[in-house]
Amino acid sequence: MTAKNMNDIVSLCKRRGFVFAGSEIYGGLANSWDYGHYGTLLKNNIASLWWKTFVQMRDDMVGLDSAIITNPKVWEASGHVSNFNDPLVDCKVCKQRFRGDKLLEDKIGIEQAVLIPFEQVGQKLNELKVVCPNCGKCDWTEARKFNLLFETHIGVIADDKSIAYLRGETAQGIFINFKNILQTTRKKLPFGIAQIGKAFRNEITPGNFTFRTREFELMEIEYFIKPPQNEEQWRKIFEQWQVTIKEFFSQNLGLSDKNMRWRRHDDNERSFYSKDTYDVEYSYPSMGWAELQGFAYRTDYDLKQHIKYSGADLTYVDENNNKFVPHCIEPAFGLTRTVLAVICEAYHQEETKPGETRIVMKFKPEIAPIKVAVFPLLKNKPELVAKAKEIYDSLKPFWMCEFDDNGNVGKRYRRQDEIGTPFCITVDFDTLKNDDVTVRDRDSMQQERIGISQLINYLKNKIG
Ligand code: GAP
Repeated sequence: MTAKNMNDIVSLCKRRGFVFAGSEIYGGLANSWDYGHYGTLLKNNIASLWWKTFVQMRDDMVGLDSAIITNPKVWEASGHVSNFNDPLVDCKVCKQRFRGDKLLEDKIGIEQAVLIPFEQVGQKLNELKVVCPNCGKCDWTEARKFNLLFETHIGVIADDKSIAYLRGETAQGIFINFKNILQTTRKKLPFGIAQIGKAFRNEITPGNFTFRTREFELMEIEYFIKPPQNEEQWRKIFEQWQVTIKEFFSQNLGLSDKNMRWRRHDDNERSFYSKDTYDVEYSYPSMGWAELQGFAYRTDYDLKQHIKYSGADLTYVDENNNKFVPHCIEPAFGLTRTVLAVICEAYHQEETKPGETRIVMKFKPEIAPIKVAVFPLLKNKPELVAKAKEIYDSLKPFWMCEFDDNGNVGKRYRRQDEIGTPFCITVDFDTLKNDDVTVRDRDSMQQERIGISQLINYLKNKIG
């Protein structure tokens, strides 16, 4: 098997309709991406599986879908207006701007880079002779704070009073609805609130395909607990979540253990709201280890801030009539970034026989965009086409299927391999005699004959 390379993955994604460059016919828009048919199906499947795992299958979780544009006070209260900053440095020679912390990370590794305080970032870049990625010179300004919140204006007049922000995380929608949810669902602590949705950050240097974009999707959980009496109490729940998160990535999405690791945030790196933070990192082809998911103990910071700024009562009263502000543990999954990791993991270029290779996307069947493709062996034999259509129609209510009668069967297999379809069914002349079909397995490329009456059960066992 050939080593994976991000350029090959990007080109497959475009060629097969997973991801397209955004606004392409207008010359594009820096780092915006559109999801095509297969990319949309994959993303929706991952989001549905996440929802099923963390909401449907659990008694201690409920859901929410809150607004993207909120009262600007939400972001003042949360601390994002004053603290959600990246260190911006300018190259004095070519005037291009970069995230200083990321340039340091590339030079000395993230473990060392996070130890450097904000105000020393520019100086350190000069000391370490880090060159500008654009012009190759080394002459950096001091770092300046650059706020990541996306501003917008409500109404027709763009003045200071009409400023609002597109949400920088979905989490705040959860905190500001805490009381509504508590009252309507009557959940008891500990319980969590889950939300999937878009978030926006004015990233200084987006890049690496869909890894860092200005518009992306999050799948966030705020898991509320009683204020812990000691560290052991919250650590226990925190560690249980770490196991659950890792299981979701490996068992549900098929990411391999060798490509994942936990990395703890250092004091300098940790967000302003967190007491302890870990990232799940993934080893992305051509990029190396980088964040896949964030996981933080946010304490009672957010609810307390919203109590302070809004005056609302966001407390909880327990069975003994004790009134308190719950604490919260936050697994924050990036949906679009998870899609990227899943695509990278699934991508395989392998030799089928000497001198012949294939690209195959080995998605777990549960999340594969298309589950089954149905082919008539020959396009110009109406009886084969009619039988194949009949089988295709019988499977469509259960799974996303494709009918394909274009080109020879070998070519159709290659196309389905690149889309990641786990099963291809071919209708041939024996089908008309014996009422059975050939089912070809994507990964092993083995074929077996299955009776048409058994087909749905056979596929249900394999796909779920
Ligand atoms: N509420 C906490 C929070 O938002 P975060 O670590 O800033 O935490 C969570 O973000 C996850 O969102 C990240 O682990 C990553 O998967 C994804 N993410 C963050 N910024 C992103 C960006 N610019 N583009 C794509 N995904 C991003």
